[in-house]
Amino acid sequence: MLRLKGMVAVITGGASGMGRDTALLFAREGAAVVVGDVNDAAGGALAGEVAAVGGQLVYQHCDVAVERDVAGLVATAESRFGRLDTIFNNAGIEQPVTPSTDVSEALFDRVIDTNLKGTFFGCKHALPALLRNGGGTIVNNSSVSAFANVGGNLSYAASKGGIMSMTRVIAIEYADRNIRCNAINPGVIDTDMNRRNKALAADPDAVEQKWRSITPMGRMGTGNEIGEAVLFLASAQSSFITGIGLVIDGGRIAT
Ligand code: NAI
Repeated sequence: MLRLKGMVAVITGGASGMGRDTALLFAREGAAVVVGDVNDAAGGALAGEVAAVGGQLVYQHCDVAVERDVAGLVATAESRFGRLDTIFNNAGIEQPVTPSTDVSEALFDRVIDTNLKGTFFGCKHALPALLRNGGGTIVNNSSVSAFANVGGNLSYAASKGGIMSMTRVIAIEYADRNIRCNAINPGVIDTDMNRRNKALAADPDAVEQKWRSITPMGRMGTGNEIGEAVLFLASAQSSFITGIGLVIDGGRIAT
């Protein structure tokens, strides 16, 4: 049985990484998916890939730091598929490892605008659509960086901590209106973001070894493992869960 049959989902940052894997999983499980991203070539290719196997996925350009783009994504879900059941606010960028006193205002603004303000816009514009739908779910992509860090990622950690606080506020405000809002806190996941992080290091192999050593399971997670957790929080399987951060980190923050 398809686990998301008939559901309508919006996924930001869905052209690559865990957003892409989640979009593919959602489409396989019967959802109609609207993906927004700034990487139009990869987004268009994803839409073609899903169409080729009979799935429903629309790609639309969306810079999550631009409010009208995010509003447009939600509007497309309603105009093309009749409603919105769930949004995965996933789009995010890394902060290259930088001593905290060397973080420029421009770098801080770029990370906060994409990760935190982008998630705010996603929640702000999804909520009225979810109310029109009689309820639904929001899943925000935070990180273990909201709790555990190795240093040098000040703006990223601040953005991810902010997402946790925002998630709890929305969960409380909408708990009696059939809208649940949760976050996920991935550990080290094998995506382009971490490939970029590794490539910037003087010794990329040592970086990967470090990631494995801080993860009791000794490996990086996969995008599909994240997708399965997002599916759980997005669907009725998690019907009494709201306001949490679901840690998916191979045991990292248990240490
Ligand atoms: P990724 O780089 O593969 O995917 C991120 C996607 O977001 C890309 O398709 C990119 O084009 C898109 N994007 C970037 N800026 C955007 C903007 N302004 N508007 C719309 N789309 C934009 O990276 P990954 O790892 O899949 O990241 C997804 C989310 O997971 C991010 O929020 C990241 O912070 C979070 N995360 C990643 C972890 C990891 O280990 N890779 C760990 C914890 C959280």
